[in-house]
Amino acid sequence: MGDQTLKNLKEAFAGESQANRRYLAFAVKAEEEGFTNLARMFRAIARSETIHAHNHLKNLGAVKSSLENVEEAYQGETDEFSSMYPMFMDQAKRDTNNDALKSFFWANEAEKIHADFFDKALKTLKEGNDVQVADLHICSVCGYTVEGEPPAKCPLCGAGKEAFETIE
Ligand SMILES: [Fe+2]
Ligand SMILES: [Fe+2]
Repeated sequence: MGDQTLKNLKEAFAGESQANRRYLAFAVKAEEEGFTNLARMFRAIARSETIHAHNHLKNLGAVKSSLENVEEAYQGETDEFSSMYPMFMDQAKRDTNNDALKSFFWANEAEKIHADFFDKALKTLKEGNDVQVADLHICSVCGYTVEGEPPAKCPLCGAGKEAFETIE
C-alpha cells in the first residue's frame, strides 16, 4: 500500500470515528429539543459512520488477534493515564479551565480501571482462554467502569445508581 493511502486511511478512520461520536451527541440534543426524527437520522448516520470507520481500520491492518488487540488496548490506556491526561490536567489548571480539568480527570481515573481490566484479560488470553468477568456497568455521567453490582453512588462523580448502564 502506498504511504499516502495509508495516511488517508488513518485520516478517514479518525474523521469517521469522530463523526460517529459527534452525531450521537447531536442525537441526544435533538431528543432534548423534541426533534425525534432528526435524532433518529443522526443515530442512523452515526451507525453508518461506524461501519466506514471499521472498514478503514480493517484496511489499515489494525485489527489483529485478540491477544494483540488487548496488548495494544492495555498500552493505550496506560499511556493515557500515565502521560497524556496528567499533562492535559496540568495545562487545564494553568488555563483555569475547570470543565476541561474535570473531563480529563474523569477520563484519567477510568483509564486506570480500564488498564486493570485489560491486564486481567491479557493473563488469560496468553493461555488461550477468554477472560472471566461479571456484569459490567458504566456511569453515564463520567464513564466510571465497574464489575459486579453498580454502586449506590458513583465513586468518581457522585451520580446515583440509576446513572449506570449495564453492558450486554
Ligand atoms: Fe479507557
Ligand atoms: Fe460517574
